[in-house]
Order: sequence, then structure tokens, then C-alpha cells
Amino acid sequence: HLLQRVFSRADVEQHNTTEAGIWVIRGDKVYDITEFVQNHPGGASKIMLAAGKSVDPFWRVYQQHLGNEAVEELLREMQIGVLDPKDAEGLAGEVDPADPFAREPATHPALSVHYAKPVNAEIPPSLLMDSWITPNELWYVRHHHPVPMEAIDDDAELGLDLSVAVGGGGEKEAQRIRLSLEDLKRDFEKKKVVATMQCGGNRRGGLNGVDGTKGTSWDVGAISNAEWAGVPLAALLTRAGVDSPEAAERMGIKHVQFESHDGMLASIPIEKALNPYGDAIVAYEMNGEPIPRKNGYPLRAIVPGFVGVRNVKWLKSITLSSEESEGPWQRGMNYKVFSPSVKDLNGVDIASVPTIQEQPVQSVIVSPADGERIEVIEGEELEIRGYSWSGGGRGVIRVDVSVDGGKTWHTAKLGEGSNQNPNRAWAWTFWEATVPAPALKGGEAGTKVDICCKATDYAHNCQPETPDSIWNLRGLNNNSWHHVKVVLED
Ligand code: HEM
Repeated sequence: HLLQRVFSRADVEQHNTTEAGIWVIRGDKVYDITEFVQNHPGGASKIMLAAGKSVDPFWRVYQQHLGNEAVEELLREMQIGVLDPKDAEGLAGEVDPADPFAREPATHPALSVHYAKPVNAEIPPSLLMDSWITPNELWYVRHHHPVPMEAIDDDAELGLDLSVAVGGGGEKEAQRIRLSLEDLKRDFEKKKVVATMQCGGNRRGGLNGVDGTKGTSWDVGAISNAEWAGVPLAALLTRAGVDSPEAAERMGIKHVQFESHDGMLASIPIEKALNPYGDAIVAYEMNGEPIPRKNGYPLRAIVPGFVGVRNVKWLKSITLSSEESEGPWQRGMNYKVFSPSVKDLNGVDIASVPTIQEQPVQSVIVSPADGERIEVIEGEELEIRGYSWSGGGRGVIRVDVSVDGGKTWHTAKLGEGSNQNPNRAWAWTFWEATVPAPALKGGEAGTKVDICCKATDYAHNCQPETPDSIWNLRGLNNNSWHHVKVVLED
């Protein structure tokens, strides 16, 4: 029987374009959805994310498909065969004990993977703004090392070491306090904070057009938003005997250092940790669940308004110190922004350059997509949507959108996130603009339009016009006006 034709996963993978036909797997069955793609109620761009792959991980996020009779009926009509049992989930080969990445949680197939080991993966624009809170599975992933699986296997062993280390190692051991996961959940207030995290390299790809940079060529999806819950960092400092700015000053404490089970070292200034309006926490929950392993289980430092790397995953210890953390991510060049004229680090005094903590104001166009062809009628309007955010909790007060490359501007309507306290706006603000479409030139080629946006934050900082003026060797903090080029057709 036709429906019993057996396909390998490799067969299915080759069918991921309209030309080759578009196939997907659901459970152990294979479907040809080529004809359905354009009629998909969730849009062609979404369903195409699963082309050549299994839809199951996507439907864990979009659960309206599960147990839905309309979906089942469609599937019955489109089935063309079954998956070779050899390729079924969980039988995909032996685990190589020598591979430090072998036991890692799978990366969601919707993410665009820049590197698999360690995982560096971002959210594609078509999913970025589906919900203001990013589902855990779709969070961008930026690991520096393998996920520390062995170190966090035994729940009984998990917890946090707190210590004060000023003026030498001896004191550190003397003041060490051990708190188990249970202690943290039982003995401290549970505080919630909604915070957006952005990788220091988000939009690095836009700087590579100016000159080469060192690092992953991220597009606009190295940013995500979650509701975190855990212990206020200030309460842990109080437990360690540092309950006020005066106490910190007396003890010579200037930095809060985080160390993780994967070897990450990063620190934040004591002012942020002690600020009652700073909202820093040690989180044990992400969107109402224990933090997933790939996002830092069991404990993660959440430093709202600070660059992603300071939000240390798999947190093992906190040390209060007179010094910043050691290591390339704090004191080395990795997260330092040099002048555009610095093309190599010969003769550069790296130590004198501060590392990134708070980030600058940012905004990005998520729809339409770059390169999209859009049908419009003369005199109609264009719908433009995007996200905006600024470091340090500075709320976004305005987003301007242009459809003529920045000559004239339209003010966007701020949406979800715009009701945050502008001094504690840790989460992103979505925006949309309805703008008269530019005059069409007609003809086969259509009309090329350069759409761009820029945001202004509560301190009236705004985004620089060009990437040229902020290009830097490591490709960090690209917040130049974001452009998408589209073609209008009538
Ligand atoms: C909605 C079918 C794959 C995302 C729907 C609906 C159907 C459907 C029938 C309407 C559900 C309802 O409202 O009752 C299918 C089929 C697929 C497929 C047959 C593949 C065989 C996907 C994939 C994604 C996705 C891979 C995501 C990456 C969505 C979304 C909606 C939706 C977001 C909701 C649209 C809205 O509420 O406006 N799909 N889908 N679908 N689908 Fe799919």
C-alpha cells in the first residue's frame, strides 16, 4: 500500500523546497505538504521552518495543533508513507562517551544554529515576536562551553556558595556560606522579574558589512524575554554580612562575582546588586518552570538591563570582592568595545577599557522580512512591526519608522511592554507602525523600498545612523538604525 512506503530521515530532509516538494514528519509518519503550505492558517513562513523535518518540536510550542480534528484530517490526506524505524527518535546512534557535548539537551529545530558545539543559535524573525514572553524552548542560546551535565546531575548536591573575598584568599574560605537549593527556596522571599536578555553580539552581522569582526555573525534574534523568579540578590548579600552601601564600603567590596559550573566567570558592580530598584535575582524558575538545563538549571544570575553574559547560567558561587572577575569575558577583550580605528589589538591597553554591562538603546524591524516582496495597491498602507529595548531599565519612549531610508519619519505605536516603569523597564517593548506606502514605479522589477527604524529611550539616547561609526573589532553592541529592504508590487 502506498501509505506504507518507507522513507529515511535523509529522504525527508531533501524535500524542503517547493521545487523538490515539501515533506514533514509527525511521529512515525511522513507527509507531503507542498500544496498546503500557502494555505496554512499560521502562515507559510512558519510551516516552512519545519520543511524536511519533524513538526513535533514545533507543535510543543504551537499546541493548537495537538488533538485538533482539522489538523488530523489534513494530515490523513497528505500522508505519503512512514519513517524508517531505524531513524525514529531516540535510536539515533550510540552516545560517544568522549564527546563532552553528547548528552546535551537538543536545540529546538526552529532556531538558526550558528555553531552546534557549543550551541550558538538564534530565533528566526518569523517567531521572534509571536509572544511577548518567549517560550523557554525558543530562547536564543549562546553557550561558551558544553552544558555542564555531570556537575548538575545530583540534585542533593546543588546549591550556592556565598563568600566574601577582600584582600587575599584566606578570608574567602573563612566566610564561605553554603546554601542548598532547598534553603534558597525556603528561607528567602521569592521575587519575580520580567527581563529581556540580549547577547552582546546581537546584530553583529550588520557590522560585518563594514569590516570583518571576530565572533558569531548574529542577525536580529539573539534576544529573548522571560519571567524569572528566585531570590533577591540583595538578600543573599545581606546573608553574607553586606546589607548596605556603607557595609560594602567599609569592607572594600566593589564587585559581585559569579562563577558557573561550566567555568564562566563574570561580575557586576556592587551598586547594581544593592540597588533596591535594580531587581537583580538568583533565579530558579523561568516562565513558571524550573529553569531548563540549556538555560542554566538549577540557578541563574538574572541582572536585568545588563548584557546577556552577566546573567550567568548554572550558577555555582557568588563572591563579594574588591575586584572584577578574572577571565576573558570580564577582563579580556571578549566583551570590550574598541574604537572603530582599532583593527587589531597590538599595543592596545585592554585592561583600561571597561567591559560591557548596560547596553545601548536598540530597535529592530521584524516584519516585513528583509527581501520580502509585498503586494500593495497605490495609496494603501504598509504594516511594520518590531521590537525595542534599552539597557539599564531605561524605557523606550518613542520608535520612529521611515520608508524612504531615513529622510522622513513616522512615529510608531508602542505596544506590549510600553506600560513598564520607565526607570525599571527591563523587558522589551513591541511596536507597530501603519505607514502610507511609497508611490509605485510599476514595471516587472517592482519598487525597491528601504524601511528603517530607530528608538529613543528615557534618557533621550537614540540609535546611531550607521554601523560604520560604531564598528568595533569584536562586533559588539550594534544598535545602528535597522534596515530592511523590500520590493513593492501592484
Ligand atoms: C494554525 C495545520 C505546521 C504554526 C494551524 C491550523 C491548522 C494548522 C489547521 C489552524 C488551527 C486552529 O485554529 O484550529 C498545520 C499543519 C502543519 C502545520 C497540517 C504541518 C503538517 C505548523 C508549524 C508551525 C505552525 C511547523 C510553526 C512553526 C501555526 C500557528 C498557527 C497555526 C502559529 C496559529 C495561527 C493563528 O492562530 O492565527 N496550523 N500546521 N504550524 N499553525 Fe500550523
